[in-house]
Amino acid sequence: MRVTFRLVVSIVLAAAAVSAGWTFFSARAERARLIDELDHRGSLLAEGLREAAEPLAKRADAKALERIAGRFGGRERLRGVSLHRPDGTAVAATSGLPPTAPPPREGRPFDCGLLDDGSLHRCTAPLEESPGFIAVFHGAAHVEAGVREVWRRGFMRLLTQVLLMSAITLWIVHLDVLAPIERTVEWMRLLRAGEDPGPAPPQGSVLGPLAREATKLARSLETARAAAEEEARLRHAGHALWTPERLKEHTKDRLRGKPMIVVANREPYLHVRKDGAVTVLRPASGLVAGVEPILKACGGTWVAHGAGDADRETVDSSDRVRVPPEEPRYSLRRVWLTREQEEGYYYGFANEGLWPLCHIAHARPQFREQDWKQYHAVNRLFADAVLTEIEGVEEPCVLIQDYHFALLPRMIKEARPDARVSLFWHIPWPNPEAFGICPWQREILDGMLGADVVGFHIQYHCNNFLETVDRALECRIDWERFAVRRGGHATLVKPYPISVALEENAGPPPSKEELLRSIGARGTLLVLGVDRLDYTKGILERFLAVERFLEDNPAYVGRFVFVELGAPSRTTIPRYRDFVEEVKREALRINARFDTKDTRGWRPIVLAVGHHERTEVARWYRVADACVVTSLHDGMNLVAKEYVASDREEPGTLILSRFTGASRELRDALIVNPYDVERVAAALRQAIEMEPEERRRRWESMREAVREHNIYRWGARLVDDLSRARPAGAAST
Ligand code: G6P
Repeated sequence: MRVTFRLVVSIVLAAAAVSAGWTFFSARAERARLIDELDHRGSLLAEGLREAAEPLAKRADAKALERIAGRFGGRERLRGVSLHRPDGTAVAATSGLPPTAPPPREGRPFDCGLLDDGSLHRCTAPLEESPGFIAVFHGAAHVEAGVREVWRRGFMRLLTQVLLMSAITLWIVHLDVLAPIERTVEWMRLLRAGEDPGPAPPQGSVLGPLAREATKLARSLETARAAAEEEARLRHAGHALWTPERLKEHTKDRLRGKPMIVVANREPYLHVRKDGAVTVLRPASGLVAGVEPILKACGGTWVAHGAGDADRETVDSSDRVRVPPEEPRYSLRRVWLTREQEEGYYYGFANEGLWPLCHIAHARPQFREQDWKQYHAVNRLFADAVLTEIEGVEEPCVLIQDYHFALLPRMIKEARPDARVSLFWHIPWPNPEAFGICPWQREILDGMLGADVVGFHIQYHCNNFLETVDRALECRIDWERFAVRRGGHATLVKPYPISVALEENAGPPPSKEELLRSIGARGTLLVLGVDRLDYTKGILERFLAVERFLEDNPAYVGRFVFVELGAPSRTTIPRYRDFVEEVKREALRINARFDTKDTRGWRPIVLAVGHHERTEVARWYRVADACVVTSLHDGMNLVAKEYVASDREEPGTLILSRFTGASRELRDALIVNPYDVERVAAALRQAIEMEPEERRRRWESMREAVREHNIYRWGARLVDDLSRARPAGAAST
């Protein structure tokens, strides 16, 4: 209240000062104008009368003077005329005038001015032929009255302004400051008391930034409290669940405080220009979803290709930027690639060569000499970036991600034998015959074996890798320890099934109806698919299964809706571009089949092609009755785990391809062969019609699997094995 009072008083004082100053100058100008007008009139009359009145001065003929003045009697405000000797005494004067008047000042033809009390104005002019002067008098009371009127009007204006401004100020202060503060205070009080505070206060007002910060602070406290409660619960239950805090402490201990360096081609945050402004984009990538929680928990540096069109504008002089943008926890170091390098290394060798080589999904790998050279050159470029990052750090710890960097482990080790290096391969590894078609298989295997630890999602891929090494290189395989020994160096080859963090206490779920409406979908039974638009994901097979399901179960026409959130990916590659078109065509074809006059406005398949923010996808997970993952071949597939990890009020059902790594852990999903359209269609029906009890049992068992084998456990196991590695010259740990 005191603030409001001070604000209003300040406004009143400021308005009064401005208004008073303005009125003062207006009054002064009005006074000058009115006197000028009298001066003008007086001097004109004195001039006009002087000649006629001059003879009367000699005769001191007041009567005649009265007559002459009478002729001007109609003149406004004229009070009279008098004739004077040089000393000022009147020789003749019309009645009611002062007996004397001061003679005109030297050098002025007319001497005009107000008399002392301001009620009369006098203008004098010397006579021409005899000594003395003539004086003309006008009433001047209106001058002061005019000035008073100006002040009165000024005051009224001030009063109106002050009243209006105060009312508006009070209104705005109440609406935009006091009410939001009251609401925010109440919201935070409830939060502090551990009660449900409802939705966060609106962010649009002037207090928006403050409310945003307060919201974040409150949420952090809430998360910290939940984490502490969870820790306490687990300690009590003797459970060893991995949490971000536990991983942080564990990593600090195992790496003896050394920073963690992660290398992955895809950056977790791209800065891009949109409508002239720089915005942040989080890419659709299983790798990013899996690895980022580790860096958020432990800190460190992520070295990645700077692919956003505004990336260069947002880094410092060492090409670094702190992320996540809203709450920085670690550094992102960007490496710049030319168009040719990106073409050859990323699109060419990595995604047209290694990707189809490792995924058995019936796409022919393309191996071009030029792409291989670029792949080699870019691996060297990243090696240089990493070497700068680890300069001066003894026994640094470098975690390399994926098939983009098969040559990097060896390059780093050659320059820094003391470094502990791991390479995690996020995609499958095929059998030795399949991999053997790669013209550079020996170089690739040699590069990978520079690492102390090579990880895959499942044991099967480790076995394939070891067999490939066994056939292609001169080395010793220790099948008991799953290690490759070559020239005095050992590489441990182990499965580390990647995972996600369980989402808990996410607040009230969104409305399914609203989400569906937002993309123009209709239906009550929502089945979801979330993918990068990649030919390995089995999206076309899934559509065929939806078609078959509706053919076999017409009762669901109009009620069932399949939403596919598809993120375009690697679209410079013709195979991917064609695939997006194929997916769109197939959705159109199936929708057209079911478009009858009874189903107007309903489509069985709603394909939302575009970039979908992780927070948006998370909202869909929370309301979808079932999620379908039908990859033809997948290292792990984190969409399956993300769905299971989502904080839902009711259990959901997961339909999962047996060709994913996830199917080895999520055994209570409905496991399908995605090529078997009939079986997937039947699984859709089974998912929808499942008894609630069975649905809950399966859901809880899958959630338990993700809870225990979460992403922090993945990070901890990798760090553990890496810390046990014995790089050249390393102290034993
Ligand atoms: C999926 C794969 C990862 C791969 C990523 C690349 O997430 O599982 O192994 O690194 O896709 O996607 P990108 O868009 O970066 O090519």
